[in-house]
This record gives sequence, structure tokens and C-alpha cells, in this order.
Amino acid sequence: MIAGNWKMNMTPTQAKDLIEAMKPAIGKAKWCDIVLCVPFTDIQAAVKAAKGSRISVGAQNMHEEEKGAYTGEISAAMLIDSGVRYVIIGHSERREYFGETDEKVNRKAAAAVAAGLRPIICVGESLDQRETGVTIEHIRMQIKAAVKDLTERDLKKVIFAYEPIWAIGTGRTATSEQADEVCREIRACLRELYGARAARAVSILYGGSMNAKNAESLLAMPDVDGGLIGGASLKAEDFAAIVNAANQ
Ligand code: PGA
Repeated sequence: MIAGNWKMNMTPTQAKDLIEAMKPAIGKAKWCDIVLCVPFTDIQAAVKAAKGSRISVGAQNMHEEEKGAYTGEISAAMLIDSGVRYVIIGHSERREYFGETDEKVNRKAAAAVAAGLRPIICVGESLDQRETGVTIEHIRMQIKAAVKDLTERDLKKVIFAYEPIWAIGTGRTATSEQADEVCREIRACLRELYGARAARAVSILYGGSMNAKNAESLLAMPDVDGGLIGGASLKAEDFAAIVNAANQ
């Protein structure tokens, strides 16, 4: 899977233009799922523009409750009814700037699955954590917290993304070996919780300054099943190049 994360970029008009530009460039890609996680206000335009293509539309966040007095929030049912199939949960920017805790991430992931959305659950360590040697411990803790009370059947709907915080938007990519090591650990952790077959079937993406140049070597790693792309998903050519790298 190659998923774009537009973050707080693109108006609906720009979203339509960008998707129109992407469509011919990714037309031949058959072997990976392509998702664009767009701002809420772009969903309608994106769904319309992506119609008839291999692009699915995702959101970048949702509220964990079904409905109610939560001013400014968006529910899973609203997303589904708008044509959304995927939702990013627990991106490090949401954890850092919007106070999303592991418990919230778990509740949102459970609510997404229950409603029929496929959550893309993000985990990742800070530079400090990497340098003090607690990366794996931290990632395992985030994974265990995120999937708490999810069944093996629920797990089939979940996608994971390993995004080292120090690599997001910095131009500093994890090496292919670093990315693979953590993705392998995530799979090992899921194997302990759900068994080998379930862990093998899960898709684990890498995210953090993935671009047209480094995508091929990252995607070639055995435990890296795809990418979550920020900056490079805002340019049709770059995103298409990453999708094409995934198709090789
Ligand atoms: P980046 O962002 O590709 O711009 O580093 C990735 C992400 O935050 O999902």
C-alpha cells in the first residue's frame, strides 16, 4: 500500500487538480493499494475526482464516539457516508499537538473498525528515544496499547505505519535497515498477540521523508509493506514515482 498524507494542505479545488494530475501517472499500477488521506473539507472533491481510478480516499483523524455533543469533531459514520474507506489514527503530529494518548488511539482504532473503516495506526519514536536505545520498547508499548481488546478479526482491517518522529518532514529518512528492523519488531509483537498467520497478513508501512528517490530501496525490505507519504504526496509526479516503485 502507498498512502499519501496531505496533512493541512490543499483546498478542494487544489485537491481535484492534484488527483486529476495523478490519475494518468499511476494508471498502470496494479499491485498496490493507493490511498490519499486528505483534509475533511477535501473529501467530497477527492472522492469525485478519484472515481473510476485505483485511488481510495482516506481521512487523517476521526472522533471515537458514534455521535453527540463534540463540537468540531467528525465521526466514522460521517466519513463512510462521504466515501472514505481509510483513516489515519495516532499520527505523531496528533499525539504531539492535539494530546492524543495511547488510550485515545486505541478507542479511535476500535471505533473505526467497528464502523467499517480501515485504520492506519501510526507509531514511532523520538530522536531522544532512538539515541537512548529505547526504540523497540517504545514501539512495542504503542502497538500493544493501540490494539488492546481488538480481536483477530478486527486486526485484519488494521494497517500499521512505522513513522520515526525524527524522520517526518525533516528530509532525514531512516535507513532501509532501520525501517525494516522496526517493522519486523511490530510484526513480531503482533505475532505474540495474535499468532503467526494473523501477523503475516498485516500490512506495515514505513513513513518519514519517503520520496521518489529512496522509495525503491525502502519498499524492497522484507517487512516494509508500503509507505505513508507526507510531503511527496503533494506532487503528482513524485507520488506516482513512489507508487510505481511499489509496483516493481
Ligand atoms: P513526510 O511525512 O513524508 O513529509 O516526512 C510523513 C508523515 O508524516 O506521514
